[in-house]
Amino acid sequence: MSNNVHPIRNPLHPIDQLARPLGDLRISVMDRCNFRCLYCMPKDAYHGHRFLETHKRLSFEEIVRLSRLFANLGVRKLRLTGGEPLLRTNLSDLIGDLSSIPGIEDIALTTNGVLLRQHAAELYANGLRRVTVSLDSLDAAVFERMNGGFDARKAVLEGIESAIVAGLGPVKLNTVVIRGVNDHTVLDLVERFRGRPVIVRFVEFMDVGNHNAWRPEMIVSSRELVARVNARWPIRPQSENYRGEVARRWAFEDGAGEIGFVSSVSQPFCSSCNRARLSSEGRLYTCLFATAGLDLRAALRGGADDAQLLHMIRETWNGRTDRYSELRGRLRHRDSEHRKVEMHYIGG
Ligand code: GTP
Ligand code: 5AD
Ligand code: SF4
Ligand code: SF4
Repeated sequence: MSNNVHPIRNPLHPIDQLARPLGDLRISVMDRCNFRCLYCMPKDAYHGHRFLETHKRLSFEEIVRLSRLFANLGVRKLRLTGGEPLLRTNLSDLIGDLSSIPGIEDIALTTNGVLLRQHAAELYANGLRRVTVSLDSLDAAVFERMNGGFDARKAVLEGIESAIVAGLGPVKLNTVVIRGVNDHTVLDLVERFRGRPVIVRFVEFMDVGNHNAWRPEMIVSSRELVARVNARWPIRPQSENYRGEVARRWAFEDGAGEIGFVSSVSQPFCSSCNRARLSSEGRLYTCLFATAGLDLRAALRGGADDAQLLHMIRETWNGRTDRYSELRGRLRHRDSEHRKVEMHYIGG
């Protein structure tokens, strides 16, 4: 089927102003994190930060109820994120509840991996099948510089291995590359995981949130990284696994598996973006770079019935025009009234 031809569409499923359906819901279950990555929650900016009080985070019941409604509106994929989702007590119970929702075909988790070893088997037993681990370098000093000073290399590597053993492989890795900080260590990551059930993906540093001091010169483009990897281990491009896949896939010519590149700055993919994001406090955002979200928690706790909630979500998606990455530069939110939402509230 050509990418431009849509199968018969369910008229109850919303479609936004740029003809994009709703397909993917990313749920931040925890705004806290046990890292302070310099591209997400830089230590200085987060010193003394007030995180949400427990009752302000959506409960598991509220998350499950909303997920059912999103499934009614066409969502087929769920991704649990944070902050660090494994800091949320009994997360596996939530996975169990979500995996029984009709229509949900895929549930994945994005974690920094520190707590993965102790949870991998139980996550799998409750229905999780896919995990993405953030890992920015194998060099202990560089890793600590990226993550805010935590000596966690061993724990994360053990977490990755435990996930594979538990049946969560192939494990995807997200490596955010920042020029002058970790870009000299990227080939080590490739070397270590080539031929293993691990897919390394290099992510271009983005201007998400308001604190990471992003400057365009700090980006290492996917183009440059492809060339660097290719010079050492020849790679060839692969076709998408599904329409709108975030990472561009490349395969090693020698059969040692694949590698990915997320080029959201140099080659934005807004035109196929079907992702909605639910923050830990229950706001619905239609873009990673949004400045405002729909307060679903207020509606839930104010007694809204399913029909009312469905209406609110449908209307929000129908009105969506977001394409920040395509407009970047023309749209920088510098003034305090238009502050972007932080990544740790809505997940990566
Ligand atoms: P699957 O294909 O479902 O396995 O997802 P994935 O793990 O390949 O990619 P994921 O959606 O986790 O995204 C990887 C990284 O790409 C994220 O951590 C973000 O840095 C970035 N990213 C993901 N979605 C978006 C998006 O909608 N917009 C932008 N600008 N960046 C995104
Ligand atoms: N740029 C790119 N990716 C980011 N992430 C968080 N902040 C940024 C940023 N500024 C992504 C990383 C991480 C995931 C949780 O969120 O890919 O693995
Ligand atoms: Fe935590 Fe992930 Fe943000 Fe790093 S990127 S501070 S691990 S939420
Ligand atoms: Fe989607 Fe916004 Fe990312 Fe574009 S910038 S791909 S619209 S989340």
